[in-house]
Amino acid sequence: MTGPRTSSPGRTPEQHPLFGAAATDYERYRPGVPTPAVQLLADVLQGRPNPVLLDLGTGTGQVPRALLSAAPGLAHIEAVDSSQQMLDQARDALAPKLGGCTLRLVHAAAEAYTPLPGDEAHSPDLITCCRAFHWMNRAAVLAMADRVAAPDAAVAIMGDGSLWTHEADWTRALRELIQHYLGAERRAGTGAAYREPGRSYEEDLAASAWNEVTEHAFPVDRAWAPKDVIGYLRSTSFAGPELFGEQHAAFEAQARTLLDAHACGGSLIEHAVFTVLLARRGGGAR
Ligand SMILES: C[S@@+](CC[C@H](N)C(=O)[O-])C[C@H]1O[C@@H](n2cnc3c(N)ncnc32)[C@H](O)[C@@H]1O
Repeated sequence: MTGPRTSSPGRTPEQHPLFGAAATDYERYRPGVPTPAVQLLADVLQGRPNPVLLDLGTGTGQVPRALLSAAPGLAHIEAVDSSQQMLDQARDALAPKLGGCTLRLVHAAAEAYTPLPGDEAHSPDLITCCRAFHWMNRAAVLAMADRVAAPDAAVAIMGDGSLWTHEADWTRALRELIQHYLGAERRAGTGAAYREPGRSYEEDLAASAWNEVTEHAFPVDRAWAPKDVIGYLRSTSFAGPELFGEQHAAFEAQARTLLDAHACGGSLIEHAVFTVLLARRGGGAR
């Protein structure tokens, strides 16, 4: 096995203010990538010699982890995140699964990602961005992807919303409780309110080199235990502990009572849809 390497190309990012402290809870409580979506991604790599994955906003490495199982021929992974704590979690999770695959952990903003000089052998065949594109300068990320990707590569932008956006009685009640403590606006860490992207991801892709797009929607039902929702909330930018200050314990106690009251047979059901936008360069290979 080749052990993971870490590098910080370009400017070294500051610790990501939204996710750094949440890395352990993120690893423990965030749902993985649904199997049919992973299979779709594995099919993209099928038949390619020594395929390479570039995962942007890798977090705790959920996407590479799933692909290491579903695409056993995967030869190399570049995993990029602006949070060193997330990358530390990703290293621990990925190292035992690498087999013959090599891994470079890149501490950088996705927009500033650059391959190692002279590393054409690691031009990515698949570039993934899961539950992270909304945090990025999307036009800059897609332009970077066009610069670094192999001919005939694909970009996959994917995600499934959050328990803030999900519409169910229990998520509505939970959102109202969070708003009672933090105000009506959705928070995005301690510094700011969340801003919806100004245009859709489809529009971002249409305006980029990656303008041949197919959409794949995978419904997924999740049964949450109330205690796991509490853990999940700690990992979010809209209800992390630092937002509540001294009131965090009181919030968690109230949230737990609310979730227990809504749970049926101990579970809270989320009917989510995991969407993959699979994009290729219009006009074929460069
Ligand atoms: C919600 S997490 C998603 C993690 C992982 N892709 C998943 O699906 O579980 C978002 C991640 O994007 C990272 N991130 C946010 N903005 C970024 C940027 N501009 N460049 C690189 N990483 C970024 C955060 O540090 C965080 O780890």
